[in-house]
Amino acid sequence: MPLFDWFRRTHESATEATVNGVTMRYRDEGQGEPILLIHAFPLSSAMWEDQIDALATRFRVIAPDLRGFGATARGSGITSLDQAADDLAALLDHLNLKTVTVAGLSMGGYIAFALLRRHPANVARLVLADTRAGADSPEAQHAREQNAQLAEREGAAAVAEQMLPKLLSAQADAAVRDEVRKIAAANDRAGVAAALRAMAARPDSTPDLATITVPTLIIVGAEDVLTPPAEARAMHAAIANSQLLEIPQAGHLANLEAPDAFSTAIEEFVGGRQALGRAGGGLAGQW
Ligand code: MLT
Repeated sequence: MPLFDWFRRTHESATEATVNGVTMRYRDEGQGEPILLIHAFPLSSAMWEDQIDALATRFRVIAPDLRGFGATARGSGITSLDQAADDLAALLDHLNLKTVTVAGLSMGGYIAFALLRRHPANVARLVLADTRAGADSPEAQHAREQNAQLAEREGAAAVAEQMLPKLLSAQADAAVRDEVRKIAAANDRAGVAAALRAMAARPDSTPDLATITVPTLIIVGAEDVLTPPAEARAMHAAIANSQLLEIPQAGHLANLEAPDAFSTAIEEFVGGRQALGRAGGGLAGQW
């Protein structure tokens, strides 16, 4: 979709609610089984445009801008990923939604783990995309602090530019690269710095994996270098009721590089393959 279109659509169709002390902007499209899409860093709900288009034909899709990102950028950003999870639980409560499919990509996955720990009753199914269970190493924490200072000094675009080679595969379209740049550059520098510090302080979710009982779909771009397929396979091995899908020729932001495969996987996971009414394709992974 042309960039101007998604900016216009995001701003025209987003709605807002004041929950947990923050005025959150979010997309709420379609009807049916609810799916909560939690965006990656350093992006916003704008990264889900293709998924919203594809999934809102059958489901209700809620895609918020997390505190400090996108149109929820007033204030100083998240103080912890637990706070981000509490914001989302409060938003679900505001929408009168008890249980939803929670789908998080990368930082969105870290927040999905926090949501599971703090608000397990909200989670009917889980999609963990291009994410990892482990905490940051001391070296990774140091790099996050450097990046937080870069964001504060030079703005969100500088952080995005530095991360871009790792966010997308080498063969990603120039249009996808531009889209990532544009979404990231629209973010607030304080929100980006705050999220970096919150990610650095996140706990190790590895011990939680064996306790996950809800159906779980794990998706990873085969060329993801930030949270590589080995991380996805380790989560798959540890979560009993899980399914793994590796998407070929896609990097870390697999939903942007392979939007159809990504959306179809979620559609089949939530709605069941039969209900799709089409032959072939489908999830290539295994339970
Ligand atoms: C993301 O895509 O959300 C980030 O790359 C996550 C991270 O930096 O750990």
